[in-house]
Amino acid sequence: MHNSGVLEGIGYLATCRDSGSQADVHAIEKAAIAFENGRIVWVGEENGIPSAYADFERTSAEGRTVIPGLVDCHTHLAFGGWRVDEFRMRIEGKGYLDIAAAGGGIRKTMQQTRVASEEALLAHCLMYASKYLELGVTAIECKTGYGLSMESEIKLLRVYRKLAALVPQDVVSTLLAAHIVPPDANCNRECYIKMIGEELIPLVAAEQLASFNDIFVEQGAFTAIEAEYLLVVGLAHGLIPKLHVDQLSDMGGGELAALTGAVSADHLEFTSSKGIAAMARAHVTAVCLPFASLYLHQPPMKARSFLDAGVHVAVATDFNPGSAPSYDLHLAMMLACTMSRMTPAEAVKGATLMAAKAICKDSEYGSIEIGKRANFAELDVPDIESWLYHFQPNTCSKTWIDGSIAYHRT
Ligand code: NIG
Ligand code: FE
Repeated sequence: MHNSGVLEGIGYLATCRDSGSQADVHAIEKAAIAFENGRIVWVGEENGIPSAYADFERTSAEGRTVIPGLVDCHTHLAFGGWRVDEFRMRIEGKGYLDIAAAGGGIRKTMQQTRVASEEALLAHCLMYASKYLELGVTAIECKTGYGLSMESEIKLLRVYRKLAALVPQDVVSTLLAAHIVPPDANCNRECYIKMIGEELIPLVAAEQLASFNDIFVEQGAFTAIEAEYLLVVGLAHGLIPKLHVDQLSDMGGGELAALTGAVSADHLEFTSSKGIAAMARAHVTAVCLPFASLYLHQPPMKARSFLDAGVHVAVATDFNPGSAPSYDLHLAMMLACTMSRMTPAEAVKGATLMAAKAICKDSEYGSIEIGKRANFAELDVPDIESWLYHFQPNTCSKTWIDGSIAYHRT
């Protein structure tokens, strides 16, 4: 049988089942999982494996902790060049917006990304996809946003399409053409927004190059009104709204996400209680991005206020060369605990089930439940609380995708 088997000898299993609160990972000790044709067919205590799976090939997790394959639901994976100088500038007291005004920031990465070849960008993405695999990350959301022209945004989406065909992980693409207005002499703000709405979005949709349409709403980026226009146009073309909001100031991002039917609103360091309530009513997933708060010396997102209001909170890296130059999702989860006061269970469910919800994939993966894809990470830790407490370099020793071992630490 293809991709069928039983993973037994699991010391601690966080199933992250889609019921109950985010604080409950529905753990099972001494557990086993059966899967057939890459899908989970049974999960439970290892002494209760049904006889139907008796002749399935057995693999032992040797007492390890097993979690659903991790999902990084917010990355800017394809970019040309780093911005190491800005790291020091910020330490010395320069603000994100000052650096951007001085020609750094997103604009600088745009220049380096525009001149990068498709091959070079793909090689960069492949390298990080392989590092993600070592961390047990089995799905990656990838945004554009450093091309900022018709041609370069499409180039980035083509890179992601090629990446998806070459790596074992699920790759989902997001158009973030409205990241900032590019400093092009022959296309001003109005012309750029028109180009996105009338040319880029229709082309991206026609060629099925992206699933989501994301807008950065901030001073120096886009207004809520511009975002609403572009999200409505995107939705009419089948692109699901997402938002980068309330990162540096309260721009009414929570309310905007609810109004536009966004599947997720990300950052949210400055979201008001009204915005949180609006997100709860509209079932918008909040995405906590601790690296961005940490590297930009910002107050962290108040995850507790969101969780207490009944909002699902996902955790992601925001991997990019400026505000979040790390792909270490485990570290982001630990920081979500220490900075944003999520419990380890909430952080684990945040980087699995809730992250899958943020990219509309929770019917496919994100938890260890019957019918979902057999995607797991085996961790050399006694349980999830110990994992995020005694933080050590990568403790993932095996990554399973669709019932196959996609990575095995040697
Ligand atoms: O998610 N907030 C806007 N965009 C990115 C930062 C991009 C950059 O600094 O290059 C973010 O933090
Ligand atoms: Fe981002």
